[in-house]
Amino acid sequence: MTSGTEKANGTKKVGLMGWLDERLGLEAAFKFAQKKQVPIHKNSVWYYAGGIALMLMVIQFASGILLMVYYVPGLEAAHASILRINSQVDFGWFFRSIHSWGANLLIAVLVGHLFSAYFMKAYRKPREFTWYSGLILLVICLGFGFTGYLLPWDDVSFFATKIGLDIASKMPVFGEAAASLLRGGHNIGQGTLSRFFVIHVALLPLLCLGLMGLHLLFVQMHGMSEPGYFKKLEAAKRTYEKFFPNFFLKDLLVWLLALNGLAALVTLYPWGLGPEADPFGAAPIGIKPEWYFLAPFQFLKLVPPQVGPFEGELFGALLMVLACSGMVIVPFFDKGESAEKAKIATYYGLVLLLGIIAFTIWGALS
Ligand code: HEM
Repeated sequence: MTSGTEKANGTKKVGLMGWLDERLGLEAAFKFAQKKQVPIHKNSVWYYAGGIALMLMVIQFASGILLMVYYVPGLEAAHASILRINSQVDFGWFFRSIHSWGANLLIAVLVGHLFSAYFMKAYRKPREFTWYSGLILLVICLGFGFTGYLLPWDDVSFFATKIGLDIASKMPVFGEAAASLLRGGHNIGQGTLSRFFVIHVALLPLLCLGLMGLHLLFVQMHGMSEPGYFKKLEAAKRTYEKFFPNFFLKDLLVWLLALNGLAALVTLYPWGLGPEADPFGAAPIGIKPEWYFLAPFQFLKLVPPQVGPFEGELFGALLMVLACSGMVIVPFFDKGESAEKAKIATYYGLVLLLGIIAFTIWGALS
């Protein structure tokens, strides 16, 4: 193969690399990767969080595709197909546990990624779109969690979904319409299972892939953000390391550690399966949602059934939306020009994080 690229200094790249370079612009991509730098400071460890999320996301897609080979989204067949995956399909229990544990780890890592980016003020100019694409990705991942939970069609997943949809139906404007659309009628049944399946395996993955592409593109465009105290250091004291290969190799090591953690959870605590759902039976006593929905669940339990003109659940939901809205407006509130506003944003983030942790623990213990 003799075709190649004429370089600025007149030399010509030959062979396979030259051939590919002419078509894909590899040289420019390599140069870009070599220029990318990662700041070194006391909070640098948080720069690994997004990468771990990315690795877990790849694992979710791969294990999800394998599960789809045997899973059957039918009222009579769903629970039996999961039983079969767990007990008869070679390594079925393993990949199912990877998918279930992976989902939980991914959401935990995303919460860490979100709040670390928040406290490092990485939402500020020019990273507003990185921030918003991230927020939507988190909502998508919570959507994966909610829709995936119903698919095994066991009693806990059935009643947890029922509670979730009942709460959604009380929300203003589109609440009832959205819940009814998801339910596929008045009761949870085949319509619901089919809808949740399609959302889980087609709609959300498409949205997620597109947004992840954008998110990573924005990260490459703007490079890693630097916390305020690091930016204020004199130039000689600000140290960086090359992304490629230095940081990337450490990324790989962290992925390996995370993978080991996942493998330990999967083998020591394989994911279980409850009895098949009985829509006419009673809800299991003390039923609770997954841990990542415990905070809103516990909060709603505290709100009285009627608050003034509002139904309790509606009032509670509005309060929670209000409490989280700061995450949406923060890039336009704290633009880095006012120390006062920066402090308010930090305190707001702390209160929100501690509130979420406290309500989650409270929900788990009660
Ligand atoms: C599937 C979900 C996600 C994936 C795969 C992902 C991946 C990544 C990666 C690989 C990076 C670069 C390394 C790093 O800074 O950690 C990054 C940066 C970033 N992410 Fe995410 N992310 C996700 C969700 C989120 C969420 C939920 C938020 C918060 C709203 C967010 C906000 C950001 C911001 C602001 C940056 C830039 C950080 C900086 O420059 O210091 N991401 N993300």
